[in-house]
Amino acid sequence: MNILLLGSGGREHALAWKMEQSDQCDKLFIAPGNAGTKRCGTNVALNIKDFPAIHEFCSQEQIDMIVVGPEEPLVLGVQDYFKKHSDIKVVGPSAEAAQLEGSKAYAKEFMLRHHIPTAGYKEFNPSTLQEGIDFIASIEGPVVLKADGIAAGKGVVILEDTAAAQAELTAMLGGKFGQASERVIIEEFLDGIEFSMFAITDGKDYQLLPIAKDYKRIGEGDQGLNTGGMGAISPVPFVDATLMQKVKERIIEPTIAGLHKENLDYKGFVFFGLIQVGNDPFVIEYNCRMGDPETEVVIPRLDSDLMPVLASLFNGTLAQQSVKINPHYATTVMMVSGGYPEAYEKGKEINGVDSAEGSLPFFAGAQENETGQIVTSGGRVLAVTSMAPSMSEALATSYKNAEKISFDKKHYRKDIGFDLEG
Ligand code: AMP
Ligand code: GLY
Repeated sequence: MNILLLGSGGREHALAWKMEQSDQCDKLFIAPGNAGTKRCGTNVALNIKDFPAIHEFCSQEQIDMIVVGPEEPLVLGVQDYFKKHSDIKVVGPSAEAAQLEGSKAYAKEFMLRHHIPTAGYKEFNPSTLQEGIDFIASIEGPVVLKADGIAAGKGVVILEDTAAAQAELTAMLGGKFGQASERVIIEEFLDGIEFSMFAITDGKDYQLLPIAKDYKRIGEGDQGLNTGGMGAISPVPFVDATLMQKVKERIIEPTIAGLHKENLDYKGFVFFGLIQVGNDPFVIEYNCRMGDPETEVVIPRLDSDLMPVLASLFNGTLAQQSVKINPHYATTVMMVSGGYPEAYEKGKEINGVDSAEGSLPFFAGAQENETGQIVTSGGRVLAVTSMAPSMSEALATSYKNAEKISFDKKHYRKDIGFDLEG
């Protein structure tokens, strides 16, 4: 099969690395890709939102399957476009099903319809602002405000103070995030520990991928600003067989059954953002794609070939596929540009990657310049993944190599997994 992978992050490097190893993968293209995907296939300078241009490229190169990394093309309807205009298979949901990520209100209503445990909530719009303000006054404890749409990862605000929460609601409904905050969800605060599950589904059957936990805050001890993700661990030690069984019965199976019952066209990855409260799992959010940097620990733990599983989404044989998971731990430490997630500089030479022994370096914001030197091109620069029988051994290798890899103003969290030991 000839494959086109859309995206340019560490997630896409990990997916390209895995697919390229398959004897079912003939030509592999990545659009637009990065310095890492270039080592696995051919990068092509396509805009991932320009579906006609992608179509033209696919026709020229006889692409059989498009694998979509990030959510944006999915929410914009890349699956629907190719379904209408070609017989190229797209790994990813239709625009309607991608609303599970694209609209918090849609996701909440879906969970209510299918009795999937999640925080209680109310939805507000500009005409119900006053009701929202009164509702916040009635809440004890932190107030969780969520812009309905995608707001560049900034649409969730948690505030302890009533007046601050009321001001935030007023700002959001007043257009703080443009269209994304025309509707706002206010939900119950869930106090617990988060983890993520990933499944691949054809809209009827599913296969589970390895479980993971990511570290979103910039600072050690989970302090400071939210980022795209500073590191990840797989598996997650506190998720035992009993919790896993609850997740399957209460969340994963009803979600997949809900997709099927509602006739949603979903052939792709489902990311379940979960939280354990007491002994019970709740859904914090759905994403219609793999996580980043979770993919950089999930994919290396797949011992079986991913290509037949992706192909099976389109021929009704997903349930018969075998997905073998490596029992070892995988850890990844994200190396970022100094200043990230706020302003940072780009174009810094990256050195020492090839001397990173025992790790898989997955590039994110890193590009080759005209002279073939790899330089930084984003906030998250590269994810250093390692595998070992224990979490601490895997982390030690990731950290040893993060020390060897250098670029001006490099930064990484030194405490990935801090809350999971012992
Ligand atoms: P989301 O974009 O929905 O994943 O929210 C971003 C982050 O906000 C989550 O990863 C949680 O850490 C936090 N969060 C979201 N909803 C809640 C909630 N109901 N209770 C507590 N924390 C939450
Ligand atoms: N690491 C979280 C995400 O990919 O959304």
